Amino acid sequence: MLNLISFFFQFPLLWYFIGFLQDIMVLIIKTGPIPTHMAFVMDGNRRFALNKKIALRDGHSAGAESLTQVLNCCYRIGVKAVTVYAFSIENFNRPKEEVDTLFDLLKSRLIYISASNQFVAQEEISIRIIGNRSMIPLDILADLEKVEEATSGYTKRVLYICFPYTSRDDIFHSMLKIQDKVEHGEIEISNITSETIEENNYFGPGCPPVDILVRTSGHTRLSDFMLWECHQDSVIEFPNTLWPNFKFWSVLWIIFKWSYYKTLQLEDAA
Ligand code: IPE
Ligand code: MG
Repeated sequence: MLNLISFFFQFPLLWYFIGFLQDIMVLIIKTGPIPTHMAFVMDGNRRFALNKKIALRDGHSAGAESLTQVLNCCYRIGVKAVTVYAFSIENFNRPKEEVDTLFDLLKSRLIYISASNQFVAQEEISIRIIGNRSMIPLDILADLEKVEEATSGYTKRVLYICFPYTSRDDIFHSMLKIQDKVEHGEIEISNITSETIEENNYFGPGCPPVDILVRTSGHTRLSDFMLWECHQDSVIEFPNTLWPNFKFWSVLWIIFKWSYYKTLQLEDAA
């Protein structure tokens, strides 16, 4: 069966047809409500590698390929902000070799998508690193900051890369920043509101609340992700698909469902 499928995929015409179908679906979805901000916990790379009996690094590489397809789908549909959980502070507990692989892959993928990929320029995507920068080795940080710098002029779309991140660390960091501003007379304690916390967290002002949070691989944990940015209307999806198998059509289906229920909700309200 698999041989038959790979046989059909050899034909360029089939790829052309799939591309055409994608365009049609994107156009259809664009006629309805579109989420502003989508967030992804990209889980399942190691299980994918284990199932396929391939090296761990190749599992993570396959995950990086999925990320490209997911971003392509989201931005083509018109999602303004996408956040991905690339590395949790908890992930530092993994073997050093794997941590190095994850850092290395993230760096090379970001350099690739910002420098040699037309998509970032065409969609005007600003890439932002969100997290505790003091935990990133200096040479890698310098490269990541170059990518941020190169895309900082774009304002149409944003890609937030959480790395190394946890929500608790973010909220705590925001509190420390506010304390510092109070001590320097920049903020009055009586003027502190929830907006002040938002303005001083790693995302900074202007980050829209999350409409859809997706965690792949069937695990139903939040893993300390986007705790502040989720709100009363955020929808959480736990597809039972390992991240490297989560592609264009998987995310399109989730957006389609969200759009359908949103339309019903808006009709009800009217
Ligand atoms: C997620 O996949 C990769 C990261 C962003 C760290 P995992 O490495 O957690 O893979 P599983 O969940 O163990 O299969
Ligand atoms: Mg995992």
